Amino acid sequence: MAEWTSGIYRLVGMPKFYAAFQDALGAAKGRKRLVREFIRPEPGSRILDLGCGSAAILPDLPSDVRYVGIDHNPRHIAKAKASHGEAGLFHAGDFSAAASLSAEPYDLVLALGLLHHLEDDEVRSLLKLVRSVIGPNGRFLTVDPVFIENQPAIARFLIRNDSGRNVRDEMGYAMLSRSIFPQVETFIHHDYLRFPYTHCFMEHRLG
Ligand SMILES: C[S@@+](CC[C@H](N)C(=O)[O-])C[C@H]1O[C@@H](n2cnc3c(N)ncnc32)[C@H](O)[C@@H]1O
Repeated sequence: MAEWTSGIYRLVGMPKFYAAFQDALGAAKGRKRLVREFIRPEPGSRILDLGCGSAAILPDLPSDVRYVGIDHNPRHIAKAKASHGEAGLFHAGDFSAAASLSAEPYDLVLALGLLHHLEDDEVRSLLKLVRSVIGPNGRFLTVDPVFIENQPAIARFLIRNDSGRNVRDEMGYAMLSRSIFPQVETFIHHDYLRFPYTHCFMEHRLG
């Protein structure tokens, strides 16, 4: 079990609660900044979003991107379809099913908040899958909570209590990524949410 799903954590699997929780944390503003500074999508990009949730990122992407989202929680996918209609393709299933969704390579693959829900061997499988579906100049972008030294107490508390059971330190994420991708850069940010919170961003390239 790579994520907590019982007790209070059941709420995280409910789209309405998850969206309200994200709003309270200031995630909407953070998403806009994430798109502007980190994702930097080109018009018409082909984008695969692994663990897409209800595809909350989609309205902040250029309107002509070709977006495919996959999430193993059917409730999030139902919400994505209801909210975004024809603006993207949404699939309920494990990320591993993404390989069979399209023969054309993707320009961008996103995993926003997914790696810390996965065991190490699952992360390696995901990285191999991404390597097989991304174009030669494509980028694979991840964002996850991270443990670092001298982290604000509130950030450490929130991160310790995340439903994902595999929050790592920066080196933990980077070593996994570098075992599969030749070029990986990590960036630590403390200010993407309304509260002190620490994120590890990673940009993966094929070369
Ligand atoms: C922290 S949420 C992030 C959702 C969305 N990317 C966002 O930024 O709002 C992590 C998501 O990963 C999904 N997930 C976890 N393990 C998965 C797996 N093995 N395959 C597909 N989706 C998964 C969960 O259902 C959840 O929606």
